[in-house]
Amino acid sequence: MYIEKLHPKIGAKIEGIDLANLDNAQFDKIKKLWLEHLILLFPNQSISDEEHIKFGKLFGKLEKHPSLSHRSSTNPEIYRVSNVSEKGDIIPSKNTSWQYLKQSWLWHTDSSFRQIPSKGSILHGISTTRKGGHTFFANMYETYNDLSDNIKERINDLWVIHDHDYIINLSSELKSKKNKGSYEQLPSVKHPLVQIHPVTRKKSLFLSPHTMENIDNFDKKEGRKLLDELIEHSIQTKYVYKHLWNDDDIIMWDNRCTMHSVEPFDNSSIKRIMHRVTLVGENKPIPAL
Ligand code: OGA
Ligand code: MN
Repeated sequence: MYIEKLHPKIGAKIEGIDLANLDNAQFDKIKKLWLEHLILLFPNQSISDEEHIKFGKLFGKLEKHPSLSHRSSTNPEIYRVSNVSEKGDIIPSKNTSWQYLKQSWLWHTDSSFRQIPSKGSILHGISTTRKGGHTFFANMYETYNDLSDNIKERINDLWVIHDHDYIINLSSELKSKKNKGSYEQLPSVKHPLVQIHPVTRKKSLFLSPHTMENIDNFDKKEGRKLLDELIEHSIQTKYVYKHLWNDDDIIMWDNRCTMHSVEPFDNSSIKRIMHRVTLVGENKPIPAL
């Protein structure tokens, strides 16, 4: 196994292994490296969806995404992050299913709308582009660590309301539509703004701007201002790795201490196909206080 850092604060590239044929020692090493580096890049992994699912299941159960139209028709654990239909056609920009997916261009953490958010995601770049379509990953341990003691004290015991519908309502196109797509209904949930990682026990900022409605028990305007300041602080390049994709790159990230976003690309002419499996979380986020 060859290991190389991707960014001073986050990420490592792992070469010399085949994710479809891992031995126990390699799997144990990957688990350790994942906790240490937060995101792992595995280049040149030409694996099938079934092998992708099998790799994901080594880490535990897999989620099925609440957006029904984005699940693969052959493997419901595969979430199709793509502007291309299963038949291979580009999905028109005005289509509801594209407008929902476009929300992944915004900064977010996967499944922050669940009572128990996902612990990690594994994304396979099947048809990638370098004309936009880069993915950004922020180290949320570091963004928390660097806050002043004053701010830490102010936010350590705050809770944030997250809602899946917020993703839909953030989209001006979807908001005005009668048919917004078909989703499993999910009630809004409350998560700590500062969480403790269940394995490393380190604190991190838990932000997911596309589901964060506001801070619980807080003045609406003040809450919004505070969240926006924390987001701005967290997306500085010193905390963020920018990934330029090659086909058959696989990236896995830890949703308990990172957030990510996608650089927009021309979705009306470029075909970008990514398949994701999503690891079910094991516990509710642990509050810092
Ligand atoms: C995701 C996502 C990233 C990408 O798969 O969770 O937000 O690069 N997409 O498309
Ligand atoms: Mn995502």
